[in-house]
Amino acid sequence: MSVLIRDGRVITAADDYVADVFIEDETVSMIGHALAVDADHVIDASGKYVLPGAIDPHTHMEMPFGGTVSCDDFTSGTTSAAFGGTTAIVDFCIQQPGQSIPDALAMWHEKIERCPPVIDVGFHLAVTDLREAGRPEDLARLPEEEGVTSFKLFMAYKGAIMVDDETLFRTMQVAAGCGALVMVHAENGDAIDVLVKQALAEGKTEPPWHAATRPPITEAEATNRAIKLAHLAGCPLYVVHVSCQEALEPVASARAAGWDVWAETCTQYLFIDEHHLAEPDFAGAKYVFTPPPRPPENQEHLWRALAGGVLSAVTSDHCPFNWATQKTLGRHDFSQIPNGGPGVENRLHMLHHFGVREGRLTMNQLVELCCTNPARLFGLYPRKGTLAVGSDADIVIFDPDKPLTISAASHHSNVDYNLYEGTEVIGAPEVVLVRGQVVVEGDELVASPGTGRFLRRAPFGSELAAAGA
Ligand code: URP
Ligand code: ZN
Ligand code: ZN
Repeated sequence: MSVLIRDGRVITAADDYVADVFIEDETVSMIGHALAVDADHVIDASGKYVLPGAIDPHTHMEMPFGGTVSCDDFTSGTTSAAFGGTTAIVDFCIQQPGQSIPDALAMWHEKIERCPPVIDVGFHLAVTDLREAGRPEDLARLPEEEGVTSFKLFMAYKGAIMVDDETLFRTMQVAAGCGALVMVHAENGDAIDVLVKQALAEGKTEPPWHAATRPPITEAEATNRAIKLAHLAGCPLYVVHVSCQEALEPVASARAAGWDVWAETCTQYLFIDEHHLAEPDFAGAKYVFTPPPRPPENQEHLWRALAGGVLSAVTSDHCPFNWATQKTLGRHDFSQIPNGGPGVENRLHMLHHFGVREGRLTMNQLVELCCTNPARLFGLYPRKGTLAVGSDADIVIFDPDKPLTISAASHHSNVDYNLYEGTEVIGAPEVVLVRGQVVVEGDELVASPGTGRFLRRAPFGSELAAAGA
């Protein structure tokens, strides 16, 4: 099977030029002007952008959390992702209480077998116990034997999946020895637990107390602690969902000092602020994700950190819970609202419109943040994350002039609300290919579940720092 994409504006992290892209089977085999080739399928991309498929290394499909389970499985969640131009995700396999690391991984593999994905899927391993059921030697085997090359630790969610500093540091030591990247959810879970209990004791039960009990300093302290411990252990570190200026500061200092530290923010922190939590009639619960939405002035700091290289990626942290049936678990107690929000479908829409069109980012930067850097950091580059001869033909033909009104009525996730409901954007994916196969064409899903495959990823590479990710 061959596909020829004619006359598109090919945009990578480094380049921007008009060319034809020829795909044979699953890979890009030629890029050039007026290619004289016969193809089984020709797509006219004139006036459109031809981008590498976006990679979202922060999703939670079918994740047990807060007494319920996130409402997208790997079929619905990856369908939603595909419509937004994302062609690969890396999801968090979470070690459950008392579960061994091999069993945790088997559980997540069962999820993608039962609900097959439309796009490619890799796993991070989220360690919750490295003393009893979880054994360091099982963790150390993951990069080589399972293609799982990143370990995640939650420094918050006390009494659930939070780890103590001993587990954090021991995992960092294992990672340093086996070529894995350590990822942290950085908040001081002990301090937050005290603040939450005090607020509830004073009868403060509404959604805005979610933000008030997790102030920026709790994120900054944990970010700084994780950075220092990772440096001591000698492992590379990636800080997930940075939400505020206070947490950017230790990331910026570590990177300025040349330490192996990278960080992401998520789309929602660029657009949703703490005032959303006060929406009436419990609508504020839609915005209960963690870290919480911050005072609005943080957003300009985050945009600047993206443009200036302090932050290396924008991800979705897609963790959808239905408002009507799941968020209501916390109707009388904000701490019982399942934490998480949807967004895997709207990352490129929002970043293109409010980032590129409004002059905060260039298209090259958008590709770097959503495609190339995630591929470099998570062992997928240059197979994915760029458009080059030999790369997987994961391609988004993006119409920069297409108007779209974002809405839960038309999105493809199972979730019953959209964080950006009613937002009008210009620019959306038109055709999306995964390894040469068209999966989305206009408003149609044209691939079957199972088109996506499990991604074995390469160990974390030292060439990254040189590549400037
Ligand atoms: O609120 C969030 N972010 N839920 C998903 C789990 C996590 O902390 O990333
Ligand atoms: Zn988190
Ligand atoms: Zn998350």
